[in-house]
Amino acid sequence: MPDQKATAIAHPNIAFIKYWGNRDDELRLPANPSLSMNLGDLHTTTTVVFDESLEGDEVTIDGQPAPEAARARASAHLDLVRHRAGVRTSARVVSRNNFPTGAGIASSASGFAALTVAACAAAGLKLAEPGLSALARRGSGSASRSVPGGYTEWLMGLGNASSFARSVAPTDHWDLRDVVVVVSREHKAVGSSRGHGLAVSSPLHTARLGAVPAMLEACKRALLARDLRAMGPLIEQDAVVMHAVMMTSRPALYYWTPATMAVIQAIQGWRAEGLPVYFTIDAGPNVHLICEAAHAPTVERQARALPGVLEILVSGPGGPARLVDTHLF
Ligand code: DP6
Repeated sequence: MPDQKATAIAHPNIAFIKYWGNRDDELRLPANPSLSMNLGDLHTTTTVVFDESLEGDEVTIDGQPAPEAARARASAHLDLVRHRAGVRTSARVVSRNNFPTGAGIASSASGFAALTVAACAAAGLKLAEPGLSALARRGSGSASRSVPGGYTEWLMGLGNASSFARSVAPTDHWDLRDVVVVVSREHKAVGSSRGHGLAVSSPLHTARLGAVPAMLEACKRALLARDLRAMGPLIEQDAVVMHAVMMTSRPALYYWTPATMAVIQAIQGWRAEGLPVYFTIDAGPNVHLICEAAHAPTVERQARALPGVLEILVSGPGGPARLVDTHLF
């Protein structure tokens, strides 16, 4: 087994049509297809080496040894790579995010996409993009969408090999911005992985699943036509319906705070004044404002003035997960 070091970069993504609920938790086969944009200004860099001298996997994130739960999750993912590659050695993993953890940007998507690409290369396992995306999905569902570049669609698939994400439009297709309005840095009480398992307990989940395919097709059409006025209402509706599922699960998941609602209400006013901007919200209270690049400075300035806003991050579209030559150790 070659003592080969490999490093990959991957971007997080923001979903326009969300992934919520699995039809198979173990394989992370989603209950519905989803559609997203990679966030090119934010990235995770991860270096992996399989090293005979290690007694177990060592994982460092942003300069600190990973907490045991995160280390175990990475290690389970490395097991999948080892199994496929026929490797038995433990790995050293060093990972760094260029965005603050706890700022409401899930690092699991970029983290597992980068880990997958780096670990496969370090293990000498050559997979094409769909295979890498399907494998990244096993670590974190949304990581499947961070493997291909630009705007991506994660297909439900029939099983493990066919549930992967593919690019529907390249990075330069449309100069959109995600203006992330951070209203809380608190660690969420219930993370996505547990949340997905609760979706079935909501009476609204089945209704959402019935509506998603047509909404995704309409959203994709609007995306391909660069028509934000058509796409915006669809992304808002899906985000709110997903949160309705969360709020009506047992136990109920309430991710919104008064500051979340204040941003939603404010942008309705901005839109009435002619500013084309739409919101989406992941499993947390922070609000992602989606607009075209030309409007991003105004959106950012107006958002900064709202009550309860702690920080704003802005990102344009981003490319695929990829290998790079510079290692972190
Ligand atoms: C609300 O991909 O973070 O952000 O597979 O358990 O890691 P795990 O879940 P994750 O779920 C993302 C949920 C979401 C919607 C989305 O990004 O599609």
